Amino acid sequence: MPTLEITDLAGNVSTLDATSGDTLMEALRDNGYDDILAICGGVCSCSSCHCYIEGEWADKLNKPGEDELQLVSSTEHYQPNSRLSCQVTLNDDMDGMKVTIAQQDY
Ligand code: FES
Repeated sequence: MPTLEITDLAGNVSTLDATSGDTLMEALRDNGYDDILAICGGVCSCSSCHCYIEGEWADKLNKPGEDELQLVSSTEHYQPNSRLSCQVTLNDDMDGMKVTIAQQDY
């Protein structure tokens, strides 16, 4: 069970005890982080689950797929450490990962 450090849109920092095997989007959505809209439900077609993976964690994760990269890089608030949280599957090795929820385009 990885514990994540989450910064929301207001800048509030909190910890989230997530479940390995869930996606980051599911962990955020199911634990009341309403800044995550996840309009498409996790099928990589909306970008409303945009987050930033902070620090060295950005390099530790699997690389985004072509579809994810194309979608997230077209968002207004894209950064090199941007990910669509529905495309990040959590595991125990991610304990301590820092995530910032990105401003949505809409
Ligand atoms: S929930 Fe739509 S792209 Fe992630």
